[in-house]
Amino acid sequence: MDLTTMEINLVKIGGSVISRESSENKFERETVRSIARQLHPFHHGLILVHGTGFVGKPPAITYGYYKSGHAAKKDYLAMLAIKDELRVLNHRFVRTMLDESVPVMPFGISHMFTEAMDALKPGAEQELRDVLSNGYVPVFYGDLIMCRDGSFRVFSSDVITLLLSQVFHPRHTVFLSDVDGVYRHGDNLDNPAENNLIEVLNAKVAAELERSEYDKNDVSGGMSAKVAHALKIASNSEKCFIGSGINPGVVSGFLRGENVLGTRIEAG
Ligand SMILES: Nc1ncnc2c1ncn2[C@@H]1O[C@H](COP(=O)(O)OP(=O)(O)O)[C@@H](O)[C@H]1O
Ligand SMILES: [Mg+2]
Repeated sequence: MDLTTMEINLVKIGGSVISRESSENKFERETVRSIARQLHPFHHGLILVHGTGFVGKPPAITYGYYKSGHAAKKDYLAMLAIKDELRVLNHRFVRTMLDESVPVMPFGISHMFTEAMDALKPGAEQELRDVLSNGYVPVFYGDLIMCRDGSFRVFSSDVITLLLSQVFHPRHTVFLSDVDGVYRHGDNLDNPAENNLIEVLNAKVAAELERSEYDKNDVSGGMSAKVAHALKIASNSEKCFIGSGINPGVVSGFLRGENVLGTRIEAG
């Protein structure tokens, strides 16, 4: 298919959606299967990114790089073991997508993105365009990237999504998470109050949220970092949305243009 006429849709599936402490191998196979079925009709021009969730977060806390995003070289064996675990998570994700006939092709970040984590490497864009024009679905995942001195930095799946949006200018960019969207008050999310979900979020609304410290759970990542990335993406993408990856029908409904529950992100 000709890429100049192909609509690109970029879907980031949160680690909180694909993994759970209590599930077998920490992998939420049935949830990923449900997302695969929803995405199958849209697989032409689709790019997927997934997070690390319960595989990535516990070691980040243990080794003290959860907030800084930087892991010291002395822990290299542990870092390499974590990278291997993340690759296994990606393998499970890819296998589940293939089982549902979504023709995914996984890519490691260190081969496709610069070590500065600010752009695709030369040649990578063309490679991805070739993959897309053949009808295949590139898949990326959050990982640790090696610095030149042998230490490691977190390359988050939200950042990967931002960089891809800058290159591919998607029609839709979707963040699937374990909540229905962005809430005005993030302190009691197990029992969100009525009218707490923000339906349209722009820079003005985000500034008000920042003042109210709406994301009390997570200083380095979590929802406030996602919102900051999504606001940048909104200027590269026709539509940008944060919604549930767990409730069935949200991502397919959004891609079909339906008014599904979630938070639409608008530029400006
Ligand atoms: N105001 C808020 N609205 C929605 N979620 C919030 C808010 N504040 C904190 N959060 C937390 O952010 C989490 C989503 O971010 P994260 O755990 O990084 O998920 P993902 O796997 O989608 O990247 C939610 O599970 C929720 O606990
Ligand atoms: Mg996250």
